Amino acid sequence: MKLITIVGARPQFIKAAPFSDVFRRRHVEIMIHTGQHYDQNMSDIFFRELSIPKPDYCLGVGSGSHGAQTGRMLEKIEQVLLNEKPDGVLVYGDTNSTLAGALAAGKLHIPIFHVEAGLRSYNKRMPEEQNRILTDHLSDLLFCPTKTAVENLKKEGITEGVLLTGDIMVDAVNRFSSISNRFYSNGVWLDVLKAENPSIPSLKEKEYYLATVHRAENTDDLKKLETIFAAFEKLDKPVLVPLHPRTKKSVDKLDISFKNTIVIKPVGYLLMLYLTKNAHMVVTDSGGLQKEAFLLQTPCTTLRDQTEWVETLENGWNCLCPIHIQAIIETTSRKLDCLNCPRPQVFGDGNAAHRICEAIIKNSS
Ligand code: UD1
Ligand code: UDP
Repeated sequence: MKLITIVGARPQFIKAAPFSDVFRRRHVEIMIHTGQHYDQNMSDIFFRELSIPKPDYCLGVGSGSHGAQTGRMLEKIEQVLLNEKPDGVLVYGDTNSTLAGALAAGKLHIPIFHVEAGLRSYNKRMPEEQNRILTDHLSDLLFCPTKTAVENLKKEGITEGVLLTGDIMVDAVNRFSSISNRFYSNGVWLDVLKAENPSIPSLKEKEYYLATVHRAENTDDLKKLETIFAAFEKLDKPVLVPLHPRTKKSVDKLDISFKNTIVIKPVGYLLMLYLTKNAHMVVTDSGGLQKEAFLLQTPCTTLRDQTEWVETLENGWNCLCPIHIQAIIETTSRKLDCLNCPRPQVFGDGNAAHRICEAIIKNSS
């Protein structure tokens, strides 16, 4: 079988790592990188560190408005599909690259396989929610990470081709966290951070917050972004922020003097896993990071009003938090009773890549 997979943004590279490894043991994969993310530390570093095969096609689409970016992807992906004539197209997650891939394949009547199907925030203003809904409704096989995702699809009348596979990010965490430990334990993590950022203070494990912010709803509204960083300044421990380039553009427009907040460039996945595992708490609006915090037993505060990953809210491991200074301070300094609570295996057993691979092969034989 000839499968085309489509990646373009940071979280998709991480999901592609376990899938490509399993799939390529027996079958042919052709990978398209749309170029949605292109900075060295938003793209290349993941391919290098996680041994992801070099993409066969780099479309170099780059940044732009939703319409322009998605349109350019659609045109270029269509051309590759017409040349390659694959038996199926696999897309990951909910980015513009996901939607463009699904649309291009759908119009050419090529079967579409969606990894991370069925997630919903029920907030249609989110570009990701639009991308997910449209992709799910076009897909032939829908690989759900959780039971909630299966139920969400059922509510929209989608039951055919739906499979509960578990979350492929569990595969990634399992596969890479021991490597991350080997690379970064015994203080190496701090040496590496300091080598790149000589002015950062000495941090201690479990005595810092790890924060990421990049959601449009938090970065496009400068007032909200200012509130978030003002709250970080008031937290009881230093806040380490690997800053997404989108957020950097907005932060640069603000007049913030960072005293408690340590801003660094985005880091590779192996270092990120180490920083997540050893943080006192994660504070984020990222989808993937909420889940990784849960998997690595680090409490999380999510700077949003909804989450697609409702399972992480169980026992207070993750708490949603509106963008108000006081709310952020109170939620992040909450008593962490969750540390004594079990975390059920709600995201699967780490064999999602195998299940997805088997299902695709079965579907096309
Ligand atoms: C995208 C996804 C989002 C996902 C996130 C992962 C969409 C609609 N959004 O958001 O779901 O959570 O990726 O990180 O697909 N930029 C750079 N260098 C890069 C990449 C981006 O400077 O390598 C800057 C550009 O100014 C760009 C902005 O970041 O305009 C936003 O990038 P874009 O890919 O459009 O959206 P993200 O916010 O990254
Ligand atoms: N991540 C990373 N380096 C960073 C920030 C995040 O490797 O500097 C990883 C993080 O561990 C998670 C993924 O990127 O696996 C999440 O991506 P992002 O937050 O960009 O997107 P989302 O998951 O919200 O779509």
